[in-house]
Amino acid sequence: MLLKTVLLLALVAQVLVLENGLLRKPPMGWLAWERFRCNIDCNEDPKNCISEELFMEMADRLAQDGWRELGYVYLNIDDCWIGGRDAKGNLVPDRKRFPHGIAFLADYAHSLGLKLGIYEDLGNFTCMGYPGTTLDKVVQDAQTFAEWKVDMLKLDGCYSSPQERAEGYPKMAAALNATGRPIAFSCSWPAYEGGLPPKVNYTLLADICNLWRNFDDIQDSWRSVLSILDWFVTHQDVLQPVAGPGHWNDPDVLLIGNFGLSFEQARAQMALWTVLAAPLLMSTDLRTISAQNIDILQNPLMIKINQDPLGIQGRRILKEKSYIEVYLRPLVNEASAIVFFSRRTDMPYHYHSSLARLNFSSSVVYEAQDVYTGEIISGLQDKTNFTVIINPSGVVMWYLYPISKLGIPQQ
Ligand SMILES: *[C@@H]1O[C@H](CO)[C@@H](O)[C@H](O)[C@H]1NC(C)=O
Ligand SMILES: *[C@@H]1O[C@H](CO)[C@@H](O)[C@H](O)[C@H]1NC(C)=O
Ligand SMILES: *[C@@H]1O[C@H](CO)[C@@H](O)[C@H](O)[C@H]1NC(C)=O
Ligand SMILES: *[C@@H]1O[C@H](CO)[C@@H](O)[C@H](O)[C@H]1NC(C)=O
Ligand SMILES: *[C@@H]1O[C@H](CO)[C@@H](O)[C@H](O)[C@H]1NC(C)=O
Repeated sequence: MLLKTVLLLALVAQVLVLENGLLRKPPMGWLAWERFRCNIDCNEDPKNCISEELFMEMADRLAQDGWRELGYVYLNIDDCWIGGRDAKGNLVPDRKRFPHGIAFLADYAHSLGLKLGIYEDLGNFTCMGYPGTTLDKVVQDAQTFAEWKVDMLKLDGCYSSPQERAEGYPKMAAALNATGRPIAFSCSWPAYEGGLPPKVNYTLLADICNLWRNFDDIQDSWRSVLSILDWFVTHQDVLQPVAGPGHWNDPDVLLIGNFGLSFEQARAQMALWTVLAAPLLMSTDLRTISAQNIDILQNPLMIKINQDPLGIQGRRILKEKSYIEVYLRPLVNEASAIVFFSRRTDMPYHYHSSLARLNFSSSVVYEAQDVYTGEIISGLQDKTNFTVIINPSGVVMWYLYPISKLGIPQQ
C-alpha cells in the first residue's frame, strides 16, 4: 500500500513538469489519414498507398510549392505504417512500404526544412489493427520515436480501457519528455471519453498534450464539417477557454482539395477553422490540388490570423433567425477576425449589421479587410450600418482593426 502511494506521488510529480514549449501557435502541415486512409495496396495503387514514396512526394510538394514558407511544415504519418515489433520489442515499419525506415523519412523531411509526425495508438492495437502501444511499451516506443528523430506523435485511443488511457497518456507525456527530444504530443484521449467534463479534465490535458482531438473523425463531406462545427459551438463555453499557446483543441483536418466540399464550403471550412484557432493540417493530394484550392489554403492574411500570437480561440457570438451566424476571434493589437457564415440554401444573402450590434466599443474607428477579396472597408464606427453578401454555405471574413480613437488622432 505504501509502495503504491509512493508510485502514485511519483506519477503526479512527473505530470506537473511536462510543459515542453512546443506549438505556441497551432501546428500547420499535412496529415495522411483523411485522404489516403489505410490504403496499403501498393500493387494496385502504387501512387496512393501508405508508403515512404507517398510521404517523400508530399514532402517535395510542401518544400517546392510555397507551403513550407507559409508555415505548413509538419509531414504527418497516420495509421498503417507499422510492420510489427522486432526481437527486442521495438516497433518496425512495414518493410515493403517503408524499405528505408522511419529515421530515413525524418532525415528527408529535415533536409527540406520540414518536421515529421508519426502515429501510434495507446492500446492493444491501432484503430486499423496494427500493433499498439500497451502500457508496458510506452517508454520503449517513446525512445524509438526519439531515436528516429520524429517531431510529433499522434497517440490514438482504440482498443484501450478508460483506466489504461488515464494512466497511459500522462505516462507517454513523461516518456517523451524523458527522451530529451522535443516531440509535440497530440492526444486523442478526449475523443474517447465523449470530449466533455467530468470525464475529460482539460486542465490535465493542457499540462500533458500540445493538442487533442475532442470529437469524431472528419469525413469528406459538408455534413461532417457541420456536425463537427455544431459540436464545437454547442460546447464552446467549455472548449473555448481551454485552448491557448501550446495546447489546442483539434477539430480534425482540412478537407480542402478533396471531393466533398464546394468552393464556398472549402472557403467556409478554412475561415471557421481559423477563428477556432484550429491546427491547419491539410489532408489532400498536394500533387494534383487545383490553383483555386491552393489560393484558399495559402491566403497569407488567413494564416496570419490562424497563427495570431495571443492564441485565443474564437466563439460564435450571434445566431440569427435568418440562418446567418457571426463568429469572432480576438487578435493581437486589438484587432479581430469576424466570420459571417450562411447556413442558407437559397441565394446570396444581404446581411445588414453594425459593429454596435457585435458589441464593439463606441469610441473607436475601425477598418476591415475582407480576407478573401482583399477589399478594404474604412471608417467603420459602431453605428455605421454595413451590408455583407454571403453565399449559401459560404462565408465573408473580415480582419478588423482600430485605426483611431474618436477625438484622438492616429499615432
Ligand atoms: C487488451 O489485451 C488484453 C490481453 O489480451 C486483454 O485482457 C484486454 O481486455 C484487451 N483490452 C482491450 C481494451 O481490448
Ligand atoms: C521536459 O520538461 C521540462 C520541465 O517542464 C522542460 O523544461 C523541458 O523542456 C522538457 N523537455 C522536453 C524534451 O520536452
Ligand atoms: C484536473 O487536473 C488537474 C491537473 O492535474 C488537477 O489539479 C485537478 O484536480 C483535476 N480536476 C478534477 C476535477 O479532477
Ligand atoms: C452584447 O452584450 C450583451 C450584454 O452583455 C449580450 O447580452 C449580447 O449577447 C452581446 N452580443 C454579442 C453579439 O456579443
Ligand atoms: C442603421 O440602420 C438602422 C436600422 O435599419 C436605422 O434605424 C439607423 O438609422 C441606421 N443608422 C444610420 C447611421 O444610418
